[in-house]
Amino acid sequence: MLRFSLLVLLACLWSCAQPPVVPMNLTESALIPQPQSVTPFGKSYRFDAVTPIYLTTPSGKLDTLGQYLQQQLQALGLQSDIRTGEMEQAGIQLSLNGPDSLGAEGYLLEITEEGLYLQAKEAAGLFYGIQSLRQLLPFEPTDTTRVATGRIVDAPVYPHRGAMLDVARHFFKPADVKVFIDYLAMLKMNKLHLHLADDQGWRIEIKSWPKLTEIGGSTQVGGGQGGFYTQQEYADMVAYAAERFITIIPEIDMPGHTNAALASYPELNCDGKASALYTGTEVGFSTLCTDKEVTYQFVDDVIRELAALTPGAYIHIGGDESHVTPLEDYIPFINRVQQILRKHNKKMMGWDEIAHADIDTTTVVQWWAAPENARKAIKKGAKVLASPAKKAYLDMQYDSTTQLGLHWAAYVEVDSAYRWDPASLQAGIKKEHLIGIEAPLWTETITNLDELEYMVFPRIMGHAEIGWTAPALRKWEDYRVRLATMAPRLKAMGIDFYASAQIDWK
Ligand code: ACM
Repeated sequence: MLRFSLLVLLACLWSCAQPPVVPMNLTESALIPQPQSVTPFGKSYRFDAVTPIYLTTPSGKLDTLGQYLQQQLQALGLQSDIRTGEMEQAGIQLSLNGPDSLGAEGYLLEITEEGLYLQAKEAAGLFYGIQSLRQLLPFEPTDTTRVATGRIVDAPVYPHRGAMLDVARHFFKPADVKVFIDYLAMLKMNKLHLHLADDQGWRIEIKSWPKLTEIGGSTQVGGGQGGFYTQQEYADMVAYAAERFITIIPEIDMPGHTNAALASYPELNCDGKASALYTGTEVGFSTLCTDKEVTYQFVDDVIRELAALTPGAYIHIGGDESHVTPLEDYIPFINRVQQILRKHNKKMMGWDEIAHADIDTTTVVQWWAAPENARKAIKKGAKVLASPAKKAYLDMQYDSTTQLGLHWAAYVEVDSAYRWDPASLQAGIKKEHLIGIEAPLWTETITNLDELEYMVFPRIMGHAEIGWTAPALRKWEDYRVRLATMAPRLKAMGIDFYASAQIDWK
């Protein structure tokens, strides 16, 4: 028995002393999302003590990306220096001279025994190429770092690949939002929708209506103290996201889901009385008073201040579950909000119910519940963002044993979140109607980053792949192997993921 234990110990010591096996066949390297084309060359590139990073024609954008790559390498114990011009010794070449065919977000990564060549047409493409390289590299420092040689040509199928975080039900501090932004960036996602106001809380400073945060921001589900972002903190998150090629889409839900605003300002209520703060989770009981002029002054001020903080084209106005707003009031309200947005040079995004209004062709309808609303929007010439709750909602429980989350739409196991396509799930909703996919996380039951990670991972990796990779290249049996390979990487990042029994985790 003792001899056997010693043997086991020796075997362990022996294997621990070995550098981890690095695949030399590029097709065996697990990448999520799966690139459009991977051609293995069958050899490997070995990183030296110092790896030069060559910037073909230096510019502000290329310098920033060079430094970003340098930081990523440094985290793996790989030293590098940044040089200009063409590669002269083994290293990494970054170039913005890629062919037009790569589009705004595509990249070409060629790895030979002599070096790595990363090309794109736009900076975003280089950033995504660097994300692929990060996944090809080990996730922690090793004695010898090698990557498999080969060529990756890659570009996304949809321009809009996003997630939503509900910071209204439970508040998440800027530092936590930034961690979430980093996760999205790693998966080549480019939009973060922040649900900034709901019945339970108002989370963004509006200088012309200060009680929104003073009163409306003072609580959350369960009665905790809530919180809000000052405009400066918000602008800082927007900038942090932009550095990672992510656009923040702010949402102020209206005319329903507005109790926090109605509790802050009595004049927004039809009876002129402030409603009580609300910390429960029921929906559909609140509405702005749609026939009072002050309501539109309020909306105008909020949109004006938010537009000034929003570099992206869209502001999301909610519009869902306005159960106590009669349709004859709801439609003119949404129509007027659309005009207010236009006045402030923003386009409207809203949940699928807004398709009832006279939406124009610049409006985007976020399909979450009713495919007939999405089809109505398509008939009106608007575009659709796919977030069908049964597949894309990150707060749905995995199965009946999941402690967090809800299941009103469905239980969504890892395979169910992955095995669908937004362009074929429902009749009449096709690829040409869609701008992309978004995976929302509602936070009735989610109170902190650990809980967020458990609901988000691993499902969001599947959602990222649906947004990026062509349906013909998405196979569950192949995906589940790649996902399993990612486990040590996720653990090393401290991500508390749901270890689904559907995956043979490594
Ligand atoms: C929603 O889930 N109420 C958009």
